[in-house]
Amino acid sequence: MDIARTPATPDGNPEMADAAYEPKAPPEIRRSDYAPFPWLVPTTRLEFELGLERTRVTARLDVERNPVAAVSPTIRLNGDGLELASLTCDGGEPEGRMMDGDDLLVTLSGDRHVLEIVTEIDPSANSQLMGLYASGGMLCTQCEAEGFRRITFFPDRPDVLSTYSVRMSGAKAQFPVLLCNGNRVDSGESADGGDHWAEWHDPWPKPSYLFALVAGDLVARSDSFTTMGGRDVELNVYVRDGDLDRTEHAMESLKRSMKWDEEVFGREYDLDLFNIVAVSDFNMGAMENKGLNIFNTKYVLADTETATDGDYDGIEGVIGHEYFHNWSGNRVTCRDWFQLSLKEGFTVLRDQLFSADMGSEPVKRIEDVRILRGVQFPEDSGPLAHPIRPDSYREISNFYTATVYNKGAEVIRMMRTMAGEKAFRRGTDLYFKRHDGEAATCEDFVRAMEDGTGLDLEQFRLWYSQAGTPKVAATLSHDGDVATLKLTQTVPPTPGQPDKKPMPIPFRVALFDRKAGTHSGEQLLVLDRASAEFTFEGFAHKPVLSINRGFSAPVSIERDVSREELVFLAARDDDPFARYEAMQELMTGYLVGSVSGDLDESESEAARGDIAEALKAVVEDDQLDDLMRGELLMMPSQSYIGEQMLVADPGAIHVAREALKTDLGTRLGEALHRLYDRAAQVPFSLDAEAKGARKIKTLVLSYAAASDPAKAAELAASQYDRADNMTDRQGALMVLAGLDSAERTARLLDFYNRYRGNALVVDKWFALQASSLHPQVVAHVEALRSHPDFNLRNPNRVRSLYMAFAANPAGFHAADGAGYRMIADLVLELDPINAQTAARFVPSLGRWRRIEEKRAAMMRDALERIARAPKLSRDTFEQVTRSLG
Ligand code: PHE
Ligand code: ZN
Repeated sequence: MDIARTPATPDGNPEMADAAYEPKAPPEIRRSDYAPFPWLVPTTRLEFELGLERTRVTARLDVERNPVAAVSPTIRLNGDGLELASLTCDGGEPEGRMMDGDDLLVTLSGDRHVLEIVTEIDPSANSQLMGLYASGGMLCTQCEAEGFRRITFFPDRPDVLSTYSVRMSGAKAQFPVLLCNGNRVDSGESADGGDHWAEWHDPWPKPSYLFALVAGDLVARSDSFTTMGGRDVELNVYVRDGDLDRTEHAMESLKRSMKWDEEVFGREYDLDLFNIVAVSDFNMGAMENKGLNIFNTKYVLADTETATDGDYDGIEGVIGHEYFHNWSGNRVTCRDWFQLSLKEGFTVLRDQLFSADMGSEPVKRIEDVRILRGVQFPEDSGPLAHPIRPDSYREISNFYTATVYNKGAEVIRMMRTMAGEKAFRRGTDLYFKRHDGEAATCEDFVRAMEDGTGLDLEQFRLWYSQAGTPKVAATLSHDGDVATLKLTQTVPPTPGQPDKKPMPIPFRVALFDRKAGTHSGEQLLVLDRASAEFTFEGFAHKPVLSINRGFSAPVSIERDVSREELVFLAARDDDPFARYEAMQELMTGYLVGSVSGDLDESESEAARGDIAEALKAVVEDDQLDDLMRGELLMMPSQSYIGEQMLVADPGAIHVAREALKTDLGTRLGEALHRLYDRAAQVPFSLDAEAKGARKIKTLVLSYAAASDPAKAAELAASQYDRADNMTDRQGALMVLAGLDSAERTARLLDFYNRYRGNALVVDKWFALQASSLHPQVVAHVEALRSHPDFNLRNPNRVRSLYMAFAANPAGFHAADGAGYRMIADLVLELDPINAQTAARFVPSLGRWRRIEEKRAAMMRDALERIARAPKLSRDTFEQVTRSLG
């Protein structure tokens, strides 16, 4: 099924349209064009006669005029590649009907009608994984954002809420389990027992994107949860036979999420049943369909033999995220897709707070900032920059971005910081109360926050409309006993937004007394003008500035700070994030200076000495837990270093970063190995201490790999061989994969043989090789493309090889351009199969403006080659055009 549009003639008659394909821009959809839908659909009845190759869908829609919308003589029912088998209106022929592109327009003259629509679809041919598709012999759906229109003709927009009842029938042997949203109200068998059916009813009105259905041969781990109001909820996690013993963590995470949302946000679950189903072919992480969450297996299945500590954390976070959507997304949904951050930004914040409460709050905060800076900042400074509430799109799937999700979460977090936790809770309570059962807007959220907290958020709304990461310059001066902090902000121009207004930026700040090593209390300063000065009295000496503590604002800061002050903060800032930040700045400052050639040999030597001293203090600080110690020892990523430069030379950054690693590994060798030996004594468990020990071990191995490769290979091989868990084994193999050693080949082979057949672990095997520091990485990835286990139709496998590669500067930015060509080839080959997944590879090439000119030209060539393809999906078309633009 092809998703490129058939252009309609001006009068909307498809018969008149030119049949020949002409590459034409898909239309731009604008936020300002929103109008309420002219029709309401109070109830929807669906009947599915299920088959892998042929499913028949009968939809009965009760429609009535929407009293608050403009009167229309027709109803637009969206379709995407659908064939209409039959259509009746009130039991007979409708007064009029026509196709407009893929949509069906039906003439309706009365106030109320019943439409009955029959479509037939082939789930096994659905490689886009949107709508109803087959995955390993089972049937499942994905409807967000616009997948429901691939199942039946329907007003497929989030502001049309309907109450669904669904009958599913199919072969009992093939589909023993039949699941849908809501509660199962009836079931039965055909006379000969070959077929069976189930009848489902969802009492909560919902938009079509939350519809879901699953049919297949599945087994469940079952449990229950009693809500704060005393409702007993049956919980099931459905997986394929054989995977049941890897579902315990998912189930425990679900119960913790349900309890946490009651305690922290006062939100109670609202059905008697909550089902999760794991599928191995899935475009995203998971989906919050009402009462029937569908998950990528990656975010469900875990045991200690096959899943890393990171995987465990990821599962807990995503299970929480989807569960929290039940209120922030389902009970209160979005008016239109421009409001996506209303549910996603808020729900990401909720899952971040949940994970912080379940584990280490400071470490979680650092991880979240690392994702923001590693993925969202580059988005915000590139051709795809958009506000968290975009103004236009051609394909909404392209806007499930780090900006909408992660920056969206930061924006709500800033409101929480300014209001305080208690007032913030009053704001969210009011929001849920006011908009329960509605399709709301970001503006509704902000207004509820204002009314609930008493904050004036007039100017703050700019965070919703302006794209770009604000830059703030901070200088501290001292005179007499007064310290003066001068803050100046600029919001850089982004596509379509040349001029920006100053935004309110909340900074948690502390001033340290250099001698005492302490401060007399943290303050919250809000910079709401282009420039402002804040004064602090009672400082006999110039204090040391600690700013943006806890990363209170998603901005980048240029502070006038000496290396000595950074060393001071790295050793004793009581805000863990600020301490991490000082350490990162120490290393980033040196690397940027060294790549730009700004440092002479003696300056370089002094800087490296300071960094080594600061790291040594971290290694030896016995107040630190190992999870936090690991954060402080981590080097800034190559992409983060590149972000600090106007135009980056990835080759030079890579060399400088590896050289620093070698230098630090050499200077700290003994201290690091003592740390390793201590960590190696900690027996396996899932508690924080043991997790910290594992993090430290692999970190030490990666420093050792740079400074003493032979010893590192030996140590990593022995960690691999003795591992009793996946974290240790994968960490060791990651280090080995970057080393040209005999140990490498043997352990990679062992890993594959040990875990072949376990798709999620084989994904790791592909990803480890694609992200390795090995000089032959491009050739390795090329070879892996032909491995019998590689499969272009499985998004997890595609991502494991190529996302890992595109994020690996040593391979992607290979000086001869081979990495760029490989990604362009992939996009072209994948686009007709899975447009959504293909389009997600375009942004890496879109970074060309920030890369040195030789590489930039090759990146552009790659983009232009994609753009010249005779037929592109809307997804890829939009991303490529914006990237070149
Ligand atoms: N709404 C899902 C989530 O964040 C993401 C998703 C979008 C999944 C589109 C599938 C398709 O939780
Ligand atoms: Zn979400």
